[in-house]
Amino acid sequence: MHKPFTPLVWILFAATPALSAQSRVSSPDGRNQVTLQLDSTGRLTYALSRDGQPLIQPSVLGMQFAGARPLRDSLRVVDSSRDTHDETWTQPWGEVARVREHYDELALTVEETVPPGRRFTVRVRAFDDGIGFRYEFPAQPALGDFAITDELTEFAMADNAKAWWIPSNRPRMDRSEMLFSSSPVSLLDSVQTPLTMELTDGHTIMVIHEADLENYARMFLAGPHSEGRTLRAALAPMHDGVKVRGHTPFVTPWRTVQVADSLTRIAPSVLGLNLNPPDSLPPSDWIKPMKYVGIWWGMHIGLYTWATGPKHGATTARAKQYIDFAAANGFGGVLVEGWNVGWDGDWIKNRNAFSFTKANPDYDLAEVARYAESKGVQLIVHNETSGGIDNYERQMDSAYTLYESLGIHAIKTGYVTDTIGNGDSHYSQTMVRHYRHVVEEAAKHHLMVDAHEPMHDTGERRTWPNFMSREGARGQEYNAWSGDGGNPPEHETILFFTRMLDGPFDQTPGIFDILERSSGHAHTLEEPRVRTTLAKQLALYVVIYSPLVMAADLPENYAGQPAFQFIKDVAVDWDTTRVLAGKIGDYVAVARRVRGGQDWFLGAITDEHGRTLDVPLSFLTPGKRYVADIYADGPGADWRTNPLPVAITHRAVSSRTRLTIVLAPGGGQAIRIHALP
Ligand code: NOJ
Ligand code: CA
Repeated sequence: MHKPFTPLVWILFAATPALSAQSRVSSPDGRNQVTLQLDSTGRLTYALSRDGQPLIQPSVLGMQFAGARPLRDSLRVVDSSRDTHDETWTQPWGEVARVREHYDELALTVEETVPPGRRFTVRVRAFDDGIGFRYEFPAQPALGDFAITDELTEFAMADNAKAWWIPSNRPRMDRSEMLFSSSPVSLLDSVQTPLTMELTDGHTIMVIHEADLENYARMFLAGPHSEGRTLRAALAPMHDGVKVRGHTPFVTPWRTVQVADSLTRIAPSVLGLNLNPPDSLPPSDWIKPMKYVGIWWGMHIGLYTWATGPKHGATTARAKQYIDFAAANGFGGVLVEGWNVGWDGDWIKNRNAFSFTKANPDYDLAEVARYAESKGVQLIVHNETSGGIDNYERQMDSAYTLYESLGIHAIKTGYVTDTIGNGDSHYSQTMVRHYRHVVEEAAKHHLMVDAHEPMHDTGERRTWPNFMSREGARGQEYNAWSGDGGNPPEHETILFFTRMLDGPFDQTPGIFDILERSSGHAHTLEEPRVRTTLAKQLALYVVIYSPLVMAADLPENYAGQPAFQFIKDVAVDWDTTRVLAGKIGDYVAVARRVRGGQDWFLGAITDEHGRTLDVPLSFLTPGKRYVADIYADGPGADWRTNPLPVAITHRAVSSRTRLTIVLAPGGGQAIRIHALP
């Protein structure tokens, strides 16, 4: 029997003329377009295209809450709104001074057509350099307190792009300190973000990551395991398997997809910064980028110990020596590790024995702080927690109050551990909240933070500019003791286009004693060893960005070294950054202009192959004259056999100069270009 429409249905249609099952939003330049669409089963999908070419095919959105069926099916659109935003803001410090935040936004609210009738909004922002989207759950009767057991977001890659990745499920779930591999998306297993992908068109780059991770679990990507090309969000679990606990109203972090036409346009990446709320701190003169030295490498090469005893590194006398060295060479800070009670014995197991206020008997914290202040140097206090976050949080207020009373403005935190105390993942919601808590409490006490074994960077430094730097990658320390010999020469040429897209990395460059003779003997290639030339150690100061950057070697290894001048000269805060050339895993050349100045620095590095780069200096101001101080790999330099020679030359350059940059195997070149008046 024919059943006519009831009047009610007609009213519903008439009242919601704008709500169609498909909505689109494009970036301001019109090139990136996101389509939100309900499929025939009532699932909401998103798709991304650029210049009309699909990059992400329709991909499912949704959430799995404990004790309920997936919030994903039988949806209808109940509301929709649009917005647009164009603002240019200034970073307190960074790879670029000014950032344009320009996007068009679409927010679509959907509701289950069947009980319990839950609803959520998907907010999409389309920028010229990529997109971000997040879920928003309003307060509602059927969704109050909740436990998320899975996020159902998919990324159905249109192309079987080549992805550069580190695993998230092995060999240890708690770190990002692995070497990178590359493989087609279809073969990915379980990987960390940012995930950089080179499309098979030979030039387009896509990067999947997240932004504003504040009260949620870190996202990994589960691969298609050789079936299709669909990546799925996978959240780091707490010990009971739940991923996120909360109550509505609630918003998730942004899921971001950065897109660029070529590799040299992918960095510096500001998409994630633009998806974080603006700075919440009043003007803060204690937040200052700086170079630092530290009682640090000596322990990693076994010359000193963190534990007390005859080789104890952190003594009052040695700290004063380092402070003198920093003051004499214009460094802002001195890090001292192993100063506090808790390092004796197995400091990873004995995580709860760490005191963050009590110094060892041979170290006078107040006296060292006083001495540092008298020399105009900042003491960077080390807080290794071994993942004992309860122990740390219990002491946080008294420790930070003490540091503040001693005029200290910087801490380095550490989380060396396989699991945190209660079995929650190192990247769980518990830890996300902990890292945020540290940064907020540190801000109250005017402390900058440099976190090791950190949560990955999701742009929170825009909101909390005291969150200066972090580790979250295999750094220099691996060259001191790693069973596989250390970081291979290609390592940083990959990092630049992957890990460095999320934010600063406290990599600790500047080892001049490449053979690590200071450990007691010259290391062979069978042993852990720095796998670069000395000139490449200099170039890393320009290539790998960190506003807190270490001159990592022992002060005695810089004595009588003309190349040390480059580390003294190099800036730590930039107005402009340009990637001049690069290929992931092979080489990269970067130029950066000093914040508030006309001088430029250029860094170029290569993998195990020597190569020559032809670099036009067209980024310099036309008509202006400059002098370049060039620190190049010297004659016969080679990371394996002859890593030390550095050739230092000076020459006049201008915007019309083309430099021929010759890089030795495992080599690099560092250039200071100073403007003549
Ligand atoms: C690992 C950190 O990355 C390193 O810098 C530190 O020296 C050790 N943990 C000890 O805390
Ligand atoms: Ca580490």
